[in-house]
Amino acid sequence: MTNRLFLTTAATVLAVSGLLGAAAPATPVGTKGAAGAGDPLLPLSGDGGLHVRHYALTLAYQPATQHLEATAVLSATATQDLSGFDLDLAGLDVRHVTVDGEAVPFSRDGQKLQISLADTVADGADFTVAVDYGGTPHPVIDTDGTSDGWTALPGDQGAFVAGEPQGAMTWFPCNGHPSDKSTYDVTVTVPQGYTAVSNGVLRTQHTAAGHSTFHWHETAPMAAYLATASVGRFDVRQYWSGRLPVYTAVDPAEKNDADGVLARLPAVIAWESSLFGPYPFDAAGAIVMHDKAIGYALETQTRPLYDEAPDMDTLVHETAHQWFGDSVTITQWKDIWLNEGFATYAEWMWDAAHGGTGLHARLAQLYARPATDQLWAYPPGDPGQLSRLFGVPSYARGAMALQELREAVGDQAFFGILKQWTAAHRHGHGTTAQFEALSAGVSGKNLDALFATWLYSAGKPTKM
Ligand code: ARG
Ligand code: ZN
Repeated sequence: MTNRLFLTTAATVLAVSGLLGAAAPATPVGTKGAAGAGDPLLPLSGDGGLHVRHYALTLAYQPATQHLEATAVLSATATQDLSGFDLDLAGLDVRHVTVDGEAVPFSRDGQKLQISLADTVADGADFTVAVDYGGTPHPVIDTDGTSDGWTALPGDQGAFVAGEPQGAMTWFPCNGHPSDKSTYDVTVTVPQGYTAVSNGVLRTQHTAAGHSTFHWHETAPMAAYLATASVGRFDVRQYWSGRLPVYTAVDPAEKNDADGVLARLPAVIAWESSLFGPYPFDAAGAIVMHDKAIGYALETQTRPLYDEAPDMDTLVHETAHQWFGDSVTITQWKDIWLNEGFATYAEWMWDAAHGGTGLHARLAQLYARPATDQLWAYPPGDPGQLSRLFGVPSYARGAMALQELREAVGDQAFFGILKQWTAAHRHGHGTTAQFEALSAGVSGKNLDALFATWLYSAGKPTKM
């Protein structure tokens, strides 16, 4: 059912009845949604004027030719009266766009797919956008020199599909900023012998006429950057860990290194649940590719994506992101330490709990680094530039801020803060200001100076 309203018709009626006068326009009364969600670090990313409730993506990918054919159906809600809107889509050819089943005009401008509406969609109304598109997807090169997005592996190996911070737009038209979260159905057809792995639960899988189709469903809201549809000739393992279905897909070349670490995934989830609160999703797993040239892993929702067999630290890190980043998502990229600082702190806690460096000793070791060290290059609460997003301070100094907080408020308040944070913002969003307020509220302490020093002050703090 759609409750889309035709405001042009209403305006015409008013004009006819004389209320608007003779000069009343016959054009839609809404305005176009803004290009970009207003994030200073990635100004073009995301789209004003609409919320995407659900993406239904149907993809067919040929690893040998790297060709993608796709349809994206977006169930959206207008957040203002809309005469048109933009989606993020970089590269690829758009063949046809419909809104509520009717063909609409569209144009391309850089990373924007601009869609015009014949009739205004009223604020609050639901509408459906369908985009037919295809071509050869290419990753985007980020300002730090790394790339993200749909990345074909050499030869016919498959594709590593990761979207942080902006690569989602390289494979589907989206509201590509994390301030918008949506549920997903991702259906991928690949040549027989390949497996396509996405987020959530595998609903169906079938093979016919030399092709296999995998239908994945993610029920929890997900930021576009956390979506994947990675393709490979994987060794697949499916099992239950209690009531949690676990699906791991591992490139056979990484199997020897990966198997022992991945076997500990249920234990890591259980241990993190005891610290952070219940695991937020209804599925778990891993995707392990064989291309360390990519150089990073990503916490793709429910099923982290690794460029090679992860070590324990990386497994612990990406699993912690399921709470910090995936379930509780940032609204602005400058808050990245809420993701990376917390996931790094989880690594430190795991290490300390398994005979490694203690938390206070770790803080002291890092604090001992000279003022010229990368660690002090920018304050984690205000990276200032996109190229710094995944720099050392976002990770290590962010984690140091958490250890400072823990030492200031004590263990009981600290773990109370973490659990209340993940509960209050579960499947939603959280900001640094909200985290600061929660910390002060739970601990009953004034923490302004602590956060000012560890999150916002440039350079090495004068004391630990
Ligand atoms: N969030 C990832 C991690 O777990 C890093 C993503 C890096 N992305 C990039 N384009 N370099 O640390
Ligand atoms: Zn991370």
